[in-house]
Amino acid sequence: MTRILLVGASSAIAAACARRWAADGAQLMLVGRDADKLEAIARDLTVRGAASVSTFVLDALDTPRHAEMLAAAVHTLGTIDIALIAHGTLPNQQACQLDVSQTLRELASNATSVIALLTLLATHLEGQQHGSLAVITSVAGDRGRPSNYVYGSAKAAVSTFCEGLRPRLFKAGVSLTDIRPGFVNTPMTAGLPLPAMLVAEPDTVATRIVHGIARKRDVLYVPAFWAIILLIVRLLPRPLFKRLSC
Ligand SMILES: NC(=O)c1ccc[n+]([C@@H]2O[C@H](COP(=O)([O-])OP(=O)(O)OC[C@H]3O[C@@H](n4cnc5c(N)ncnc54)[C@H](OP(=O)(O)O)[C@@H]3O)[C@@H](O)[C@H]2O)c1
Repeated sequence: MTRILLVGASSAIAAACARRWAADGAQLMLVGRDADKLEAIARDLTVRGAASVSTFVLDALDTPRHAEMLAAAVHTLGTIDIALIAHGTLPNQQACQLDVSQTLRELASNATSVIALLTLLATHLEGQQHGSLAVITSVAGDRGRPSNYVYGSAKAAVSTFCEGLRPRLFKAGVSLTDIRPGFVNTPMTAGLPLPAMLVAEPDTVATRIVHGIARKRDVLYVPAFWAIILLIVRLLPRPLFKRLSC
């Protein structure tokens, strides 16, 4: 039986992953800031076949309580086989440009709170000498763009952190998967004018995420075609890139 810790468990992408793990009979601990949402997801996962589902209410910005959350997870799950960090927020780029405090809040939500959790969980899994750590970043972290560079730089910080952390964990037999979705149809993107052809459903990306974590992939673009798109985007010369307004 796989024992799984999900932080940001009310995310549409995380919940879709959890449904797959539940169907395989996993034991899950769901962490999020909204108790009612967690309870509703827990009930659904139980019906779908999870061995057991527990919940822990935590605002990820409350870093002093991260250790308490991990202690509860260890108490409930024993060994942690998979830990997935999924929480995040999509900032209003224009508003951030005019308000430093909003920019810093978004960096806390998408970067520093995630890095704090990775630090704690990495040391724990390293001590176990076993496990898979995974975090949802974004294709937006591959290159800063004028329309979303606050979000993109936060995700890039996490991806760069993972690049450095991965070799350390590898030596302890622990994998670290950096999951980089493109556009996904979730509450985060609701109402945004996205190109329909490029928007994936949470269940589709969850299949690839669950499979990628099981195969201990280092970096996972979801869907896979984003790896090619981002390769092209990264190769665009800077003199051309700065003339774009995407
Ligand atoms: N959707 C996309 O197109 C897309 C693309 C690339 C990357 N991503 C990333 O994928 C991840 C999941 O997002 P999603 O698309 O599934 O969107 P979502 O359904 O809106 O999920 C975002 C989740 O983050 C949680 N959250 C935000 N701040 C939190 C905090 N301080 N403490 C605890 N939980 C917090 C939210 O909790 P509440 O339910 O309580 O609000 C919500 O469950 C995010 O990291 C996002 O950046 C999404």
